[in-house]
Amino acid sequence: MNARLTPAVTNPELDAFWMPFTANRQFKANPRLLARAKGMYYTTADGREVLDGVAGLWCVNAGHGRREITEAVTKQLETMEFAPTFQMGHPIAFELANRLAKIAPPGLDRIFFTNSGSESVDTALKIAVAYHRARGAGQRTRLIGREKGYHGVGFGGMSVGGMVNNRKFFGSSMLPGVDHLPHTLDLEHNAFSRGIPQWGAHLANELERLVALHDASTIAAVIVEPVAGSAGVVLPPAGYLKRLREICDKHDILLIFDEVITGFGRVGKPFAALAFEVTPDLITTAKGLTNGAIPMGAVFSQRKIYDAFMQGPENTIELFHGYTYSAHPVACAAALATQDIYAKEGLLTRAATLSAPWENAVHSLRGLPHVIDIRNYGLIGAVELEPRQGKPGARGFDVFLKCFERGVMVRQTGDTIAMAPPLVIETKQIERIVETLGAVLRETD
Ligand SMILES: Cc1ncc(COP(=O)(O)O)c(C=O)c1O
Repeated sequence: MNARLTPAVTNPELDAFWMPFTANRQFKANPRLLARAKGMYYTTADGREVLDGVAGLWCVNAGHGRREITEAVTKQLETMEFAPTFQMGHPIAFELANRLAKIAPPGLDRIFFTNSGSESVDTALKIAVAYHRARGAGQRTRLIGREKGYHGVGFGGMSVGGMVNNRKFFGSSMLPGVDHLPHTLDLEHNAFSRGIPQWGAHLANELERLVALHDASTIAAVIVEPVAGSAGVVLPPAGYLKRLREICDKHDILLIFDEVITGFGRVGKPFAALAFEVTPDLITTAKGLTNGAIPMGAVFSQRKIYDAFMQGPENTIELFHGYTYSAHPVACAAALATQDIYAKEGLLTRAATLSAPWENAVHSLRGLPHVIDIRNYGLIGAVELEPRQGKPGARGFDVFLKCFERGVMVRQTGDTIAMAPPLVIETKQIERIVETLGAVLRETD
């Protein structure tokens, strides 16, 4: 038997869980187990406190262990653990939709519920295609994404996404009729920009080239993350998103903002659409919607899109789409309690007041060994490292691991270290994250 095909049994107690987006054998040989969480900290299974520099996975915006969410979830479980939303309804689903509509960018007040970011993305793409059909333009099926984009792992999201590693294993199974804009990360022009880079708005004009190539009448939608997180933090150059909006308007193409990480306060406003003053037609969200406590996503739609579906016989299902757990009552309860916390503690705008100290802190790492770029916006930061020769990602992983061993959890994407702490972070904790990362960089070869 080929030795390379022999399954590696590293730790029988850990082998049954096939871990997502994880180097399973490496992890199981040296597990990092988180057992409890409160406020800004995790506690590991062996009792060490770890400062959370990445809000779990960009989702725990109000900090860990929020009692209000626990109580709301418990109460809902005791009252009604499940109710369908297909041809039935339950009150808190409507209450939550109304609540979200109030904080949404202008006009995006029709809300479709999902269970994750990936589902939100696939839902938005389907709404876009079906919308054009509903208004008599059924030939508009082409979707335009962007290189380096991350839109989750459904076939739709992967197809419009532009992450090589997410695409190469599933190449021929991608959706047909998809094209991509170039990404906007260019170290030659933009390295060490503080906040939004000034160079690169013209890259949005590439959309005109794709329109010329495919013809506008075939294109349903463009989807971009206003600020991309998973690809290692890619920021929109000044004016770039506005230009995309103009080109979409000119050609009647829908613009979708994937705000799975930027939604709910990460960039100092409830949504990046508000921060950049660009209103898309659809917004996808998840993560911060429930503070990560219960899986849930939501797609925010312009009313004109919803209205386009509300025609024909009233007994027909207008959008043939939905999930058993769309607007799950327990998730709705978690989301309402989360929104209460956000409102009461001003968390949807707190990142705006912290962004200056945050920017100064992360840019203080400039000049340290291996650092080739630093990017920041709102409460998002990234430090890009020179890869080791022939070993992309190895240095990034070492840095991530050493930070964790020193009690700070960051996120590693290739050789980029990303940070997005809970929005309740204090300046002392910002300093601790950056000091730890700095110390680790100094000692990493
Ligand atoms: C922009 C964006 N879209 C979609 C997703 C997918 O979300 P999920 O993992 O909840 O499916 C992510 C996850 O990180 C994301 O950052």
